[in-house]
Amino acid sequence: MDDPTYDTRLAEFETRIARGEKIEPGDWMPDAYRKQLIRMISQHANSEVVGMLPEGAWITRAPNLRRKMVLLAKVQDEAGHGQYLYHAAETLGISRDEMIDALLEGRAKYASVFNYPTLGWADVAAIGWLVDGAAIMNQTMLAHCSYGPYSRAMVRICAEEGFHKKQGQEMIIRYSQGTPAQKQMAQEAIDRWWWPALMMFGPHDSDSPNTPQLMRWGIKTRTNDELRQEFLDELVPGIQALGLSVPDPEMHYDEATGHWVGREIDWDEFWRVIKGDGPMNASRLAARRKAHEDGRWVREAAAAYAQAMG
Ligand code: 3HC
Repeated sequence: MDDPTYDTRLAEFETRIARGEKIEPGDWMPDAYRKQLIRMISQHANSEVVGMLPEGAWITRAPNLRRKMVLLAKVQDEAGHGQYLYHAAETLGISRDEMIDALLEGRAKYASVFNYPTLGWADVAAIGWLVDGAAIMNQTMLAHCSYGPYSRAMVRICAEEGFHKKQGQEMIIRYSQGTPAQKQMAQEAIDRWWWPALMMFGPHDSDSPNTPQLMRWGIKTRTNDELRQEFLDELVPGIQALGLSVPDPEMHYDEATGHWVGREIDWDEFWRVIKGDGPMNASRLAARRKAHEDGRWVREAAAAYAQAMG
């Protein structure tokens, strides 16, 4: 570091973090702090806009008008979450075009859970309860993030995620108490989304290269494994209370620790899907590329109008 005042500035920065102060866009921050936030927030934003696709496929096939309206509202929320988060990332100096180009060119990550297909209507329910439920646990933690714009975006997003989770949970409850065919439909959807939802929390803490720095600077305030355990302890009894099961024969309650414990995640699958070899990776990127191309005229018209208005 060729900045002679770097150590002093870093010490002041870390004192602010320790005091629970929020770091704002114009404040001094280590380059590594800025890079970590750009990485996390842009990937989070990508996850929101790609996350619209699995459920969006069912809007035209919702079983009734109420379900259609709820799903429409949820998918629209995800689009808004993406805009919120791209804006939060822009406060760190990266442009919207850089982030979108990285996504469309396959250079940027997004939550691997969205690279799985939605094979039936109950998948919409399972995504709401399991996937948005996992996202809420992660995002409630991020609402305490040391970077102001990210933590404030999370407050608004978590409020809407609460609705996303509840609408999914309500459907699973209804189907579990419905006809045998409905109960089976709910069980099959939980079987499909259980493991991809667990993968949303990331690798084990011991295999998480970013966690130490993120925890040191208050970007993360809880670790991947801590949040995953909270998810297990809430969802396993909740699913079992409905007469449904999780697709893990080793799942059991550990009296000694007071936690639910199951078998290991298939980490080969985890990394394979992240690296692009999941069932829907190509289809998701193709859909985003088409949406971007279809929206070109809107961007050009808005730019022309802004130029005409001077
Ligand atoms: N999918 C894709 N990539 C993942 C991943 C997942 N489930 N879990 C980890 N990774 C990647 C990380 O991005 C990192 O790669 P990178 O260094 O190239 O970015 C690598 O695997 C190692 O993982 P780490 O644990 O070191 O990474 P993090 O400390 O950043 O932890 C994380 C991973 C928990 C996803 C964290 O980045 C995070 O909390 N991100 C913000 C929240 C987020 O993106 N949530 C997505 C939810 S989807 C959503 O909200 C839509 C809602 O409507 C359902």
